[in-house]
This record gives sequence, C-alpha cells and structure tokens, in this order.
Amino acid sequence: MKNIYSNIYSFNKKVLKKTIKSLNRGNLVGLPTETVYGLAGNAYSKKAVKGIYKLKRRPKKNPLIVHYYDIAQASKDVILNKNFFKLHKKFCPGPITFVLKKTKSSKIVSSATSNLNTVAIRFPNHKIIKTILKLLDFPLAMPSANLSSKLSPVNAVDVFENFKKNLKIIIDGGQSKIGIESTVVDLTKKLKILRPGIIDSEEIKKVLKVNLSKKGSKIKSPGMLKKHYSPGIPIILGRKPKNSSHAYIVFGKKFKNIYNYFNLSKKADLKEAASNLYKTMRRIKKKGFKKIFVAKIPNFGPGVAINDRLTRASR
Ligand code: TXA
Ligand code: MG
Repeated sequence: MKNIYSNIYSFNKKVLKKTIKSLNRGNLVGLPTETVYGLAGNAYSKKAVKGIYKLKRRPKKNPLIVHYYDIAQASKDVILNKNFFKLHKKFCPGPITFVLKKTKSSKIVSSATSNLNTVAIRFPNHKIIKTILKLLDFPLAMPSANLSSKLSPVNAVDVFENFKKNLKIIIDGGQSKIGIESTVVDLTKKLKILRPGIIDSEEIKKVLKVNLSKKGSKIKSPGMLKKHYSPGIPIILGRKPKNSSHAYIVFGKKFKNIYNYFNLSKKADLKEAASNLYKTMRRIKKKGFKKIFVAKIPNFGPGVAINDRLTRASR
C-alpha cells in the first residue's frame, strides 16, 4: 500500500539537509515547535512570504511571527528594549512572542509584517526547529500550519490534513507539548498582551514589576480574526448537551467517564487542559459529533488562553 503520508519525515541528517536546501530556495516546510506546528519560510524572501499567505489563505492584513535562534540574529531586524531583555531571560527560548519596532536596515519582507513598522518575534524551544534556525542565515516567518480560521495543528498528521501534498516537507517532531499558540506581548508602547497563552499576565507582570495596560481591555492583534481556531462544527459555551449525541468538553474530577464527555484535565490542571484543547476538538470532529458543548473553565492563568480560543471558535 502506498504511504499517504510520504511527505512526513522523521528527523535525521539527510532530512535536515533537504529541509535547509528547500528553505534556502524560498520553499515552505511544516515544522514542529513546542506550542503548535508552523508553516515555515524565509522571512527575507518575497517568494516564501507570498507562498505562506497563499497556502494558508491568510488575509494580507494579518502579520506573521518571525522566528530566531538567538538575540544576535534578532537584533538586526528589531529594536530591542529593557522589557524585552527581562522577558527573554526568563522565558526564552519558549512560548512567548514579542512585538517590537522594526529596524531601518531590517531585511524582513514588508508583506510579512503587513507593512507595519513593528515585528512580532519569537525564539521557539524545540530541538528540531532550533537545529534548523541555527544553520540558516535568515529567520523564519512561521504562522501556525493551518488554513486561516481553522484549528492549529499539534502533530505532523494534523499539518498533513491541512495541506495534503501541497507541502513537500513536513517534519515529525512528535506531539507539541504546549498545544496552544504562544503568548503575544506588545513591547512597543504600553505593555499589552495581544494574545493570551500559557505564559500568563501575572507571570509577565512579576518579571517586569509593572501593570499591564488597561486591565481587562480587549485583546487585539492586527488582523486577528473574529472567528478563529474553529473545528468546523458549532461550539456552545457554558452549557451541557441535552442528549448524548453531542460532545461535551469538561474540566476537573467531578465529571463522569461517559463516551460523549471529553475531559481536558481530570486533575483540574489548566496547563494540561490547554495542551489537550485542539487535540480534543479534532478527536470530537473525527468521531462524527455535530456539536460541541463546553463546561465552564476557570478564567485565570492558562485558563484565560483556553477561554480566548474557545470564545473565538464559538463565533
Ligand atoms: O506559537 C506560535 O506563536 C505559533 C508557532 C508556529 O510559533 N505561531 C503562530 O503564528 O501562532 P500565527 O501567525 O498563527 O499568529 C500570529 C499572531 C497573530 O495574532 C498576529 O496578529 C500577531 O501574531 N502578530 C504578528 N505580527 C504582529 C505585529 N507586528 N503586531 C501585533 N501583532 C502581530
Ligand atoms: Mg494561527
């Protein structure tokens, strides 16, 4: 039988060489990170950036995150500041993205940042992507490897299901440990969280010893779609399904083990729940349920990110 996943590769020296060659030519590859899988291309190449928007069917006004191996590499493209250094020291490499002002000499293709004068940068923490970034002489523009508005992928097969053979190389780096996208924090003016993630506002405040801009204000990133992270079936929040033909996403030990109940974390651990979120929504869809109901999930720590994704998915 022909292997339908013939574009999914295990990581080895030969595959590394092939990947580097492909990225050098301005082609795209699917790569694992600790948060979600990404669709990677040379951030300095017009061809690569154009390819990313086209393949993802992403609106042009939604800028991409640019990924670096280290600070030295990033300093060519963005103006680093005190808050950046503090947060970088504490959390990087890791699941946090910084919005900073672009340098005049930056080689980042302007369409990658939707012509803004700022760039969102990240230092991912996964062995495979770190090995690749270290060998390249350009950073990687890398949005999550899903079609625009759909669920982000957390393993290589999820990436395949989005792009099939339109992506020549997808590297299998196992299940993404964190399972939701990085926290995006704006460091250009008043400190502000644009997209919540596993690193929450309390942790950021503690490191910077400051208050975040307008507590409880609306989270907004340019181009951030109203409807996003959608599994493709209706989601109803804060309610229980009337019968067992609908799926019920729950959290904590008080829920029974029933076949249409999907527990994000029996031990009520919000980090674990975040890592199970997209995986669970995909499983429910594959099982053929036509609707998802979701129990109340605590709205603190990683719970803020979980509720953000669920709210967008339910629109
Ligand atoms: O965990 C992650 O961040 C993953 C992995 C692959 O690294 N990437 C990811 O990228 O989630 P993407 O493209 O799906 O989300 C990028 C987010 C969007 O909400 C976008 O609006 C915001 O970052 N963003 C990008 N550039 C920005 C900028 N200059 N100013 C403000 N927000 C920006
Ligand atoms: Mg995304």
